[in-house]
Amino acid sequence: MDFIGANILSVSQFERVDIDRIFEVADAMGPYARREKVTRVLEGAILGNMFLEPSTRTRLSFGAAFNLLGGTVRETVGISASAMAKGESLYDTARVLSGYSDVICMRHPQEGSVAEFAAASRVPVVNGGDGANEHPTQALLDLYTIRKELEGHGRSLDDFRIAMIGDLKHGRTVHSLCKLLCLFGKVQVALVSPPELAMPEEIVERLRKAGHQVTANDQLESAIAHVDIVYSTRIQEERFASQEDADRYRGRFRLNRDIFTRHAEPNTVIMHPLPRDSRAEANELDIDLNEHPSLAIFRQTDNGLLVRMALFALLLGVEDKVDHYSHAVRWHSRRNPV
Ligand code: NCD
Repeated sequence: MDFIGANILSVSQFERVDIDRIFEVADAMGPYARREKVTRVLEGAILGNMFLEPSTRTRLSFGAAFNLLGGTVRETVGISASAMAKGESLYDTARVLSGYSDVICMRHPQEGSVAEFAAASRVPVVNGGDGANEHPTQALLDLYTIRKELEGHGRSLDDFRIAMIGDLKHGRTVHSLCKLLCLFGKVQVALVSPPELAMPEEIVERLRKAGHQVTANDQLESAIAHVDIVYSTRIQEERFASQEDADRYRGRFRLNRDIFTRHAEPNTVIMHPLPRDSRAEANELDIDLNEHPSLAIFRQTDNGLLVRMALFALLLGVEDKVDHYSHAVRWHSRRNPV
């Protein structure tokens, strides 16, 4: 694909070469993300960050990625803080905000809303999550993490086993990740959810058409027994008709050190898009795994910075100029590896 000026709305727009290119550029962002070097390549550029649903890491890492490339970030957080609370349409908001920005990242509770916004925008729009539909940049960073974690396990993106656990019906990260996996060969996918929260049939079909072996059940222990990656997710309570409805599923699948040690192979990698719900009634990923070397959740969030930097560099056509506008950092900060 031609990245310059493109909207990033769905992972379906990527071909395998595009993924390879994004990852290649992401690999080169390490010194900047680790604060060993500073680049001003996006000096003068403005990111309009428009987050109309709760977010910590997606919003902040989009912002930090843009800052690390030398650009400036303008934030709108929550519908109540925007003129949408006064009835302004997506169309008008897009026309206005795109006059103030060079690229826009947007999260919105409704499926398809970011695409509608992008159609009216005069600058590229990146989907930071539209309802239960898609979360393309999360899937890219998840895939990038899987690739890195598999290195040294004798596995690759074309030959590995993954179990996805939790609310697979409403989870946009797993929707995007499954679609992205269709670009690769020979993936064994175990889908673990209550039947009512199963992965949409259309996505399961896509995985099968891509030649992947897919199983679906509601047994956590057996599903994690022979996989390279365990990808746990939160019950997406904000997508349920009522809190009572959501509460029926909270705490249904709990992974802790004991269950992991007893059932999973020792070097199985544990991932989660975060936030994990650490309230006692939910606790899908126990804090007793925090020091476990298999826990990759904070390596995921660090990788998010690299992948989002790569995407911005590609969309704004500066991926080959990053080093040219760089110098060594002049300050010292203590940064321990995760
Ligand atoms: C996810 C999301 O917003 O879809 N979070 C994220 O962006 N990392 C997952 C979730 O909220 O459960």
